[in-house]
Amino acid sequence: MDYTFAATIGLHTLAAVIWVGGMFFAHVVLRPSVSDMNPTLRLSLWRHVLPRFFAWVFISIGVLLVTGYGVLLTGYRGGISGGYLHIDIMQIIGAIMIVLFLFLFLGPYGSFKRALARNDITAAVTAQGRIRKIVVINLILGLFTTFIGAAGTFVGY
Ligand code: HEM
Repeated sequence: MDYTFAATIGLHTLAAVIWVGGMFFAHVVLRPSVSDMNPTLRLSLWRHVLPRFFAWVFISIGVLLVTGYGVLLTGYRGGISGGYLHIDIMQIIGAIMIVLFLFLFLGPYGSFKRALARNDITAAVTAQGRIRKIVVINLILGLFTTFIGAAGTFVGY
């Protein structure tokens, strides 16, 4: 029996868990837990947390794309034009999430690092607010995509 598709979709799911779970932890658990902290300390904490998490997001995006398109390009469920709505929606939302992440990484995250390097706390707080807004959007999109990615498998077309 060929377990290649099963193992590849398993990896795909792990990548989704790491990216979406990381955003959930950062926004829902860590952020409120440190909100009372002195701003300098809090920003320094995020300065250490974000690069580590973003490295994993880059790895997750790579794995999602390679495994997702890997199975589709080798004919899984009829391939790219196989007509499965949940797979089409997953690709569209996945692309939006990736573009939003790259924008966050190159825009607000860069401003955040530069502001902290020159000790400009006000600018760092503003940049961090922009990062948070994009993470919230991606968290909602990621939860939805994970839900339809997993649930769609069981829907008869
Ligand atoms: C961007 C391009 C993507 C492609 C080409 C892709 C492709 C696929 C394919 C072909 C499947 C198998 C569906 C089935 O068996 O019916 C799948 C499942 C899944 N995908 Fe994606 N996907 C992408 C992005 C994402 C993203 C961004 C997430 C979540 C953040 C995600 C989460 C999942 C989950 C949770 C499953 C279900 C695995 C299962 O339980 O069977 N995918 N994806």
